[in-house]
Amino acid sequence: MSSIRINDKTFVPYIAENKIKLRVAEVASAISADVKGLNPLFISVLNGSFIFMADLIRGIEGDCEVNFIRYSSYEGMDSTGKVKQMLGLSQSIEGRHVVVVEDIIDSGLTMQTLISTLQAKHPASIRIVTLLVKPNNLKVNLHIDYCCFEIPNDFIVGYGLDYDEKGRNLKDIYVVKE
Ligand code: IMP
Ligand code: MG
Repeated sequence: MSSIRINDKTFVPYIAENKIKLRVAEVASAISADVKGLNPLFISVLNGSFIFMADLIRGIEGDCEVNFIRYSSYEGMDSTGKVKQMLGLSQSIEGRHVVVVEDIIDSGLTMQTLISTLQAKHPASIRIVTLLVKPNNLKVNLHIDYCCFEIPNDFIVGYGLDYDEKGRNLKDIYVVKE
């Protein structure tokens, strides 16, 4: 793995593909055990979580269903502080056991907005799983049920995460070089 260039920035290798795969499988096993027999509904927060979602649910044993929702708060490398819903859910979640699948929780504003939107639809339960969390940047009180990796406040790309929509196709996760 060597450094890469996206637009005006250089990114260096940070979490390797095989390390991601192993950790995602571990978390999938933990979720499987907790939601066994509940026919959980996994809701992927687009766009960033599509690759994580694909790997995660292949580690889930037993019945489960998937759906997608789209939120947007980032422009370039900064959160705008405003969370916009771009695509709503296409089904009822009343009485369902929901697992929200996110790529990264940064300020936590996106997740907080999403959770209150979902709670108003009366699911039986809501669990949160995220690939990454930046604990030092959290601005809201969130209970994150499952997290694959905790990272510092650096900007990262790859494995679904983008810098100005680029870099989502990278197999490894990269961090911006200062
Ligand atoms: P939050 O609302 O501040 O928690 O931001 C969450 C969203 O911002 C994530 O779902 C990502 O789409 C995006 N985001 C936050 N940090 C990064 C990063 O380091 N790289 C790429 N996207 C990020
Ligand atoms: Mg996201």
